[in-house]
Amino acid sequence: MENAVVAGLLLAISVVQSLAAPDPQTPPNILFMMADQMRADALSCAGNAAIRTPNLDKLAAEGVRFANAFSSTPSCTPARAAILTGLSPWYHGMLGYGVVATRYPYELPRALSSGGYFTCSIGKDHFGWNTTTNEGVPHGYHRTDLYDGLPKELDDYDQWFAEANPGVNPMATGLEYNDYRGRAYVLDEYYHPTAYVGRAAIEFLKTYDQTRPFFLKVSFHRPHSPYDPPKVYMDQYDPTHMPDPYTGGNWDSRYAVNYNTTPDPGIWCGNISLDTLRVSRQAYYGNVGFIDSWLITGTCLATTTTSVRPTPISGRPISR
Ligand SMILES: *[C@@H]1O[C@H](CO)[C@@H](O)[C@H](O)[C@H]1NC(C)=O
Ligand SMILES: *[C@@H]1O[C@H](CO)[C@@H](O)[C@H](O)[C@H]1NC(C)=O
Repeated sequence: MENAVVAGLLLAISVVQSLAAPDPQTPPNILFMMADQMRADALSCAGNAAIRTPNLDKLAAEGVRFANAFSSTPSCTPARAAILTGLSPWYHGMLGYGVVATRYPYELPRALSSGGYFTCSIGKDHFGWNTTTNEGVPHGYHRTDLYDGLPKELDDYDQWFAEANPGVNPMATGLEYNDYRGRAYVLDEYYHPTAYVGRAAIEFLKTYDQTRPFFLKVSFHRPHSPYDPPKVYMDQYDPTHMPDPYTGGNWDSRYAVNYNTTPDPGIWCGNISLDTLRVSRQAYYGNVGFIDSWLITGTCLATTTTSVRPTPISGRPISR
């Protein structure tokens, strides 16, 4: 069911170096950031005037934006297996959605670990959970701190949330993991998975004190549904100003099935009203904006464990 809709992964690789002159003998630290179901056009630097991504734009301006890069498979786990192994779907064995193997002959984090790096994965892996060890299947990572956004997996985030908020449903916003609807997050922003991942990454960067270089993967689960940004990020956008969805041609009318009598928020197609779709888009853009707020170029990730507040499209600062 996951990712029936075409998904895009936004990938950003950044080499973090100290201000001192780089020593050619010392391998650089590597910070690898990604998001899930982030459309290539959900960036203002890609020419989208309806969205605001100031920090991602800055990263693009100071680095290189590959405007013609493609994921090997436009869906979740096969694309992740490709990043893990460096292989195309025909060679890693997943031509479509399926379960990532527990180990491949060649794996990026395992290669970096054996090459002298300390390797850490924060956020979404979707590489499996070992209920015996109660941690993500490591694939060569020394450390993992996972939020996979899977209903049946009690991952690091879920366990942390349950301890911090006994009896509270982490999905209290009322949206599902493949929901098409958008709605503001009902819990404190601090508990949002995007904030969990952003904070964990900053803590890692602030406290890293080993002499060996690190490879840090920071993988945001959003803007993948649920489209549930904190209200302040939702309010950055006016749903009536959202661009209309692309429709027409000879392919989509057959999927305009009327689901009104049997509502299923996990549907991947349907005859959904324009008003609803605009709110979904507003919330999706809000999810992107929330991720953007955790990045500050120069240091790549914010140096405080609080995200940067957005300013609305009018330029007026938002007070909470
Ligand atoms: C889970 O961990 C146990 C104990 O280390 C190990 O024997 C088992 O093979 C692991 N399972 C997976 C799927 O990695
Ligand atoms: C889609 O919904 C609209 C408004 O509810 C309705 O007029 C139209 O017939 C529906 N189309 C399909 C294919 O069910």
